[in-house]
Amino acid sequence: MRKKVTVIGAGNVGATLAQRIAETDLADVVLVDVAEGVPQGKALDLMECGPILGYDSRVTGTNWYDETADSDVIIITAGLARKPGMSRDDLLAKNGDIVKVCAAESGRRSPNAVMIVVTNPMDVMAFVAMKATGFPRERVFGMGGVLDSARFRTFIAMELKVSVENTHAFVLGGHGDTMVPLPRYSSVAGIPITELLSADQINRIVDRTRNGGAEIVALLKTGSAYYAPSAATLEMVVAILLDKKKILPCSVLLEGEYGVKSVFAGIPVKLGAKGIEQFVEVKLNAEEKAAFMKSVEAVKSGCAKFM
Ligand code: 2OP
Repeated sequence: MRKKVTVIGAGNVGATLAQRIAETDLADVVLVDVAEGVPQGKALDLMECGPILGYDSRVTGTNWYDETADSDVIIITAGLARKPGMSRDDLLAKNGDIVKVCAAESGRRSPNAVMIVVTNPMDVMAFVAMKATGFPRERVFGMGGVLDSARFRTFIAMELKVSVENTHAFVLGGHGDTMVPLPRYSSVAGIPITELLSADQINRIVDRTRNGGAEIVALLKTGSAYYAPSAATLEMVVAILLDKKKILPCSVLLEGEYGVKSVFAGIPVKLGAKGIEQFVEVKLNAEEKAAFMKSVEAVKSGCAKFM
C-alpha cells in the first residue's frame, strides 16, 4: 500500500513541500488549507505534473481533515509568516491557536502518525502540537535544525569555494535568534572548519546563519523563505518513509538530555519509520553549553504562554 503524507497549510512552504514529496513518488499527499479552492487547485495542478515528471503520487486538496485519516506522516506548516522587522516570536499567539486545531484534528484521525511542525515560532509550536495530540515525544517534533544547518553549510561552501556536498554542519538549540551553530562539529571533507577558517570568518558565517531567515524576509518583503524550509522538511520526511535511521537535528522535547527537562530544543536525533529512535548527545564545552542554555531559556518563555 502506498504511504500517505498530510501537509497542513497550502501556502508557499506547504505547497512546495507537497510538490517535493509528490516528485519523490514515495507517498500520496493530502494538502489541507482553510482557503476554499486553494488546496484543491494546487493539488490538481500537482497531479497534472505527474505525466510529465513521471510520478504516480495522488495529491488531494481539502479544506477539512477527514481525507487525512491514517496518514503515516503529518506536517504542519499552517500559520502566518513573518513580515520584515518581525521576529518569529511575534507570531506566537495567532499561530498557537492555528496549530492547536491542526494538530488535534489531524492527530485524532491518524493516531499512529509521525508529526513534524514547521510553523513558527517552531519550537513552541511543536510543544503546542504535542499538548494538542498527546503524541509521545518520539512522534512529534519540529523542523529547524536541518534548515539552519543547510544555511550554515551554504555559507561555509561559499567562503571556502568548495562543493556544498563536502560540507557538514551542526546547529543546536531553538530555531530562533539564539540558535547555536557549532563550528567545532562542522567540517569540510571531515576537516573541522576551525582549522580552515579564521575566527573572524567563522563569526561572520555564524551570524549570517543565525539571521538566515530574517535575511530572506528582508529581501522578499512579503513573506519568508520556503524553498530551503520545504527541502529541509523533505529530508526528514524521506528519512521516516524509508526508515533510513538518519541522524538529523530536530526540535524535540528534552527529558534530561543536555541537562534540560520539559522544553523543546534542537538536538541531533536518529529518524526512522517510528519517528525518533535515538536522542543523540554530543559533548559541549562551557561556551557552547552556555549558548545552548540561553537558547533553551528563550524557548521556555514562549512555551510558558501555553502551559
Ligand atoms: C526560516 O528560517 C521560515 O523560520 C523559517 O526561514
